Amino acid sequence: MAQMRTSVDVFAKTREHERLEQLRAARELDLVPYFRVLEGPTLPEVEMEGRGRIMLGSNNYLGLTGDDRVRQGALDALNRYGTGLTGSRFLNGTTDLHLELEREFTEWLGTEAALAFTTGHQANLGALGTILGPSDTVIADSGDHASILDGCILSRAKLRAFKHNRIDLLEKRLEAAASDGGGVLVVVDGVFSMEGDVAPLPEIVELASRFGARLMVDEAHALGVLGARGAGTCELLGVEDQVDLRMATFSKSLASCGGVIAGPADVIEFLRIQSRPFMFTASGVPAAIGAALAAVQICRSAEGPELFGRVLGNARYLHSGLAGLGLRVVEPTRLADGTEVVTPVVPVVVGDDWKAALLWKALYDAGVYVNVALHPAVPPGGALLRTSVMATHDHATLDRAIEIFARVKQGFEAEHGPLPSGA
Ligand SMILES: Cc1ncc(COP(=O)(O)O)c(C=O)c1O
Repeated sequence: MAQMRTSVDVFAKTREHERLEQLRAARELDLVPYFRVLEGPTLPEVEMEGRGRIMLGSNNYLGLTGDDRVRQGALDALNRYGTGLTGSRFLNGTTDLHLELEREFTEWLGTEAALAFTTGHQANLGALGTILGPSDTVIADSGDHASILDGCILSRAKLRAFKHNRIDLLEKRLEAAASDGGGVLVVVDGVFSMEGDVAPLPEIVELASRFGARLMVDEAHALGVLGARGAGTCELLGVEDQVDLRMATFSKSLASCGGVIAGPADVIEFLRIQSRPFMFTASGVPAAIGAALAAVQICRSAEGPELFGRVLGNARYLHSGLAGLGLRVVEPTRLADGTEVVTPVVPVVVGDDWKAALLWKALYDAGVYVNVALHPAVPPGGALLRTSVMATHDHATLDRAIEIFARVKQGFEAEHGPLPSGA
């Protein structure tokens, strides 16, 4: 038999992908907002690439990465268990800290059980990829986090997406899914990561229940921020008992790294023995678990609500400062009953990708670091500067950031034309 050789090099795409030219040009002008190097801890002001910059681009919402008790939690765990566990939770990677953390989550969220994963991404992958099978249907909001989409793809369930927060379309998907023949799961972010807006959970709960579907809520950006106990969007919107599965990460308010799925004991037990992204990866390192545990304990103490109030107060302050400059700042979600839900994410709409990169660089050079969200993180033509605050920012620091925005905006508009305005 003649030997067959493929004519396609699987690496060819690495040399030919659509963003290559854009990236090359941006690199030449030093405009790439990604992979910038931090030279110290994530605090309200950071050292980055040789100078101090105001940090308005982290998910360290409670500022706990710098908290002595959280650092001590990490150090104690490191000293007791060493640098790593070199094995899966399933085998040699479970310590009493992992179990204590899972107990804390169970109590905090008021669920029957909870399971700690090595990252939040793996928690979504591990829950969705295991609970759902090829005969099921999953209905996801188009704004859901990438890890949710990855979990849906892994599961090979039928994916029916609906346009961001369009409850009328969710209803249509539920109607269609009813005749797909399998189980149905609706999965949404509680707080959407890029725009900081909130899912209308009461309506979603009602629809899911009407159609007999299960509901999972990703609380990555809401845990430790929303609700009187900081238990997230489900708590704030009064639907904790009606949401079947809740996901959260340790990499935001909890100042660490890892993820958790909380829900009914039988489901959590199933994940514990079936979830491949849980079983076939090393467990979270002791320092990460020790830090997350200390952070959860702070959130659950009397100090928690004070911190939640402070970060949301700072979000309001930054929002009004930036909007006051005439920038278009995404407004907080207004619920059906008129309540406004503020989150720590304060996005400034720019629209065009190049303008977003240029504005980002001007701010960076002037001493403010923000995140830039381009397609596919946001819809095409919807580039954002995603600013976010911590409980530990003081008003003087935020005032300085707003002054820098004012100066940079003026210079930028003189050169590149007007930015989208809020008016
Ligand atoms: C909404 C949402 N879900 C899940 C994740 C994944 O969490 P982790 O960073 O812990 O992997 C993130 C983090 O980027 C997120 O924003």
